[in-house]
Amino acid sequence: MGGSGQVDRRSVLRGAVAAGAAGATAVGLSGAAASPSSPSTGSGSGSGSESADGVFDFHGVHQSGILTAKQRCAAFVAFDVTAKDRAGLSALLKTLTERVRFLMAGGVPEPLGISAPPSDSGVLGPVVPADGLTVTVAVGSSLFDGRFGLSARKPKLLRPMESFPDDDLDPAWCQGDLLLQLGADNADTVAHALRDLAQHTRGAMQVRWRIDGFSSPPRPSGTPRNLLGFRDGTANPAVTDSRTMDQVVWVTPAQGEPAWAEGGSYLAVRLIRMLVEFWDRVSLNEQERMFGRAKVSGAPLDGQVETDAPRYAADPTGDVIPMDSHMRLANPRTAGSDSLRMLRRGFNYDRGTDSNGNLDMGLVFCAFQQDLDRQFIAVQKKLAGEPLVDYITPFGGGYFFALPGVRDSSDVFGSRLML
Ligand code: HEM
Repeated sequence: MGGSGQVDRRSVLRGAVAAGAAGATAVGLSGAAASPSSPSTGSGSGSGSESADGVFDFHGVHQSGILTAKQRCAAFVAFDVTAKDRAGLSALLKTLTERVRFLMAGGVPEPLGISAPPSDSGVLGPVVPADGLTVTVAVGSSLFDGRFGLSARKPKLLRPMESFPDDDLDPAWCQGDLLLQLGADNADTVAHALRDLAQHTRGAMQVRWRIDGFSSPPRPSGTPRNLLGFRDGTANPAVTDSRTMDQVVWVTPAQGEPAWAEGGSYLAVRLIRMLVEFWDRVSLNEQERMFGRAKVSGAPLDGQVETDAPRYAADPTGDVIPMDSHMRLANPRTAGSDSLRMLRRGFNYDRGTDSNGNLDMGLVFCAFQQDLDRQFIAVQKKLAGEPLVDYITPFGGGYFFALPGVRDSSDVFGSRLML
């Protein structure tokens, strides 16, 4: 993680927040194509506003880390809750609230004197910087299994992630009672936050799986690239458009979900390894036809620049943009396909090499949506058998529900769930 890249991102971000609606164009994107990598404006509702000293709003109707501009560093950590009963789960949610509230704001850790273990690991120095940290708390369907008396309160579409035809799922990398999505401008801030949360929640939850991710700086401009070399996130719905977010991301009264879930969002996480050694032997033409976009510019194959919309109506048999290209299958842009849109917020991962000496890298696919069936699952089914499946292996992940936001200093995560 080069420091200069982060300075670039932060200065773009600060300038864009100050410039209000001009934010989306500050990174070369506009209107409908703005990605969550673009800065967004607004306040107090998870909309992604960050102060000049790297503090994101913790309190609001929605959690941060959803519409928030993607930070450079991230971790996705799934936990099994080991708290014995409902009171233990309430205490856990209260502790998580207090720690995340502190960590996202930054400050001086409580001094406990020289005869006690320090209250903070100290890895960020004597003053904990906010450093663009967001911690997003989500729950899995297993939390509603009866241990905590919550079975009647489960978000109605939440369930364990199924195995899709091209998957090779490892149960050790799947599901979880709780999922934390951490993001920050630097890797040590993510690690510090995770260590703090682990220290304070000891005995109440246990790590089930963890994967660290990163988002690249624009190369050379536009949306960051994934590890297949393509810009990823281009066609996301605009996070600055609150009406669209109410149709795509947030659970509203119209979904008929339990009332406590309003303001939350379904989160699909897929851990997808990329077989990069094979990919790097595929011709450029074939790579581009698999996605339907040009590799360098990110433009659709019938366009010039990244923000151009593909014109499928003028190419009904897929001569220019193949019918089975990833983006055309995922969103054919027909009358009914608007309802399939989701907010993708994935991160690259690099875990070194596997035991055979192959590079172990890929994508932590992460998508937020209002309706798991209508959006992620419907699109995943459309992608079954796409040409790209020969170069990727989904091996883990899960379905979660990102809790509504913590409203104010007297509120806690899941307060209405636990009522
Ligand atoms: C390693 C796996 C994947 C890679 C490398 C990948 C890469 C890409 C790329 C390069 C694009 C075009 C640029 C953009 O609009 O972002 C794209 C678009 C998209 N992808 Fe993926 N993707 C992967 C997995 C998935 C999965 C699992 C889903 C959902 C089930 C998905 C859903 C979409 C959607 C909805 C679009 C936008 C289509 C549009 O509106 O034009 N992708 N992806």
